[in-house]
Amino acid sequence: VYNDFYSQPLPVPPTKSPKLTYTNPTTGAAIDYYEVEIKPFEQQVYPGLKPARLVGYDGISPGPTFRVERGRETVVRFINKADTASAIHLHGSYSRAPFDGWAEDTIDPGQYKDYYYPNGQNARTLWYHDHAIHHTAENAYFGQAGLYLLHDSAEDSFGLPSGKYDVPLVLSAKQYNADGTLFDPKDETTSLYGDVIHVNGQPWPYMNVEPRKYRFRLLDASISRTYHLWMEAEDALGKKIPFSLIAADAGLMTKPVTSDNLYIAMAERWEMVVDFSPFAGKNVTMRNDRDVMADEDYNGTDRIMRFVVGNSVSDTANNGALPAAFKPLDFPPNKATVDHHFRFERQGGEWTINGVTFADVENRILAKPQRGAVEVWELENSSGGWSHPIHIHLVDFQVIKRTGGARSGVTPYEKEALKDVVLLGTGETVTVIARYAPWDGVYMFHCHNLIHEDHDMMGAFNVTVLEN
Ligand code: C2O
Ligand code: CU
Repeated sequence: VYNDFYSQPLPVPPTKSPKLTYTNPTTGAAIDYYEVEIKPFEQQVYPGLKPARLVGYDGISPGPTFRVERGRETVVRFINKADTASAIHLHGSYSRAPFDGWAEDTIDPGQYKDYYYPNGQNARTLWYHDHAIHHTAENAYFGQAGLYLLHDSAEDSFGLPSGKYDVPLVLSAKQYNADGTLFDPKDETTSLYGDVIHVNGQPWPYMNVEPRKYRFRLLDASISRTYHLWMEAEDALGKKIPFSLIAADAGLMTKPVTSDNLYIAMAERWEMVVDFSPFAGKNVTMRNDRDVMADEDYNGTDRIMRFVVGNSVSDTANNGALPAAFKPLDFPPNKATVDHHFRFERQGGEWTINGVTFADVENRILAKPQRGAVEVWELENSSGGWSHPIHIHLVDFQVIKRTGGARSGVTPYEKEALKDVVLLGTGETVTVIARYAPWDGVYMFHCHNLIHEDHDMMGAFNVTVLEN
């Protein structure tokens, strides 16, 4: 058991620079071109033991952070210098189907693929990660995940903490062997919860902060673990510090929502503003509840990281009150009829959606929305003690109802957000509404417990255009 809490600083992944910029011959607009190498590297996690062998984008994990301006197109060449196949999904992007990381569209070792991203959506925190058929869990776990931050000018008008006060926190839980190497989840068929909590690749780090406001962009990049987070100061242990949730998967919420706890499941992004000014000279610890759904707990899974709060503020810009509201979200119009009901179940050792697995090629297209149609999908967790975060590619959806389970309804922060992943806790049924647009094409939807996804809890939907 690794219990070296808060001894190492929080790493922050470097920003990726374009290799060149060229002109789109059709529109005349600039396109930034990037190259990323998928390659093995070693990282010393346990002093005195063997280094962990990882495979990451540009040989780091998390991979480099893309910072992209809305409306500026990008092309990213992913070059596979590892010894297993990869596929890359930009999670949160309405990519055209050929560039969406379809699980069977793999880049074999020695090959590359160029992915085109339109970046036309509003500002949001996206992430890029592996999506290779039956190997997504181990590829993501061994390091193939990174952030892609889409920025727009509307975001600047709210005076949110920015620059060094805008910090990504990528959570992941893993398990190590006694010699310091990483335990391989490839033979798992249910879940790999992990007993070591990493933030930006470092187990239980600390971060020096100033006594002012910070914006934290949280991503749960774990393959199986869901978190229920809260914060406490060293002189008031157990007393939950309130924070403001400001954004989710699809960017800014309608308004900041004050909360003292946050559920974050695999692939979800939640952004919070934390004010450290009452805690000058003290430590503030980010904690995790035990007994989140059916997840297994270990010695250190009740904590995430520590903020060491200093005594002086070097920059007072963007440290004021948050606005009362951000913007009305583009919520789809309400609709009473349910278009699809999907049951997420375990059947005969397989994880299924309405009894179908992704391996069932003939039957795996489970919905055919017309392009532009608004559909209501009811997602039912009928798998007993498991929880499932469900991700629908292409769209932003609104969570309109949650029944069953121990949580009562839609959380206050989900109500104000557009999402692309929603947690179906144990026994829960969740209703989501989305507009299936802007493109036609075949897209995936699946459980983001990546072990479930690999064991084939994944289906597809075909966004169709009417012939006339
Ligand atoms: Cu984040 Cu289909 O994945
Ligand atoms: Cu699942």
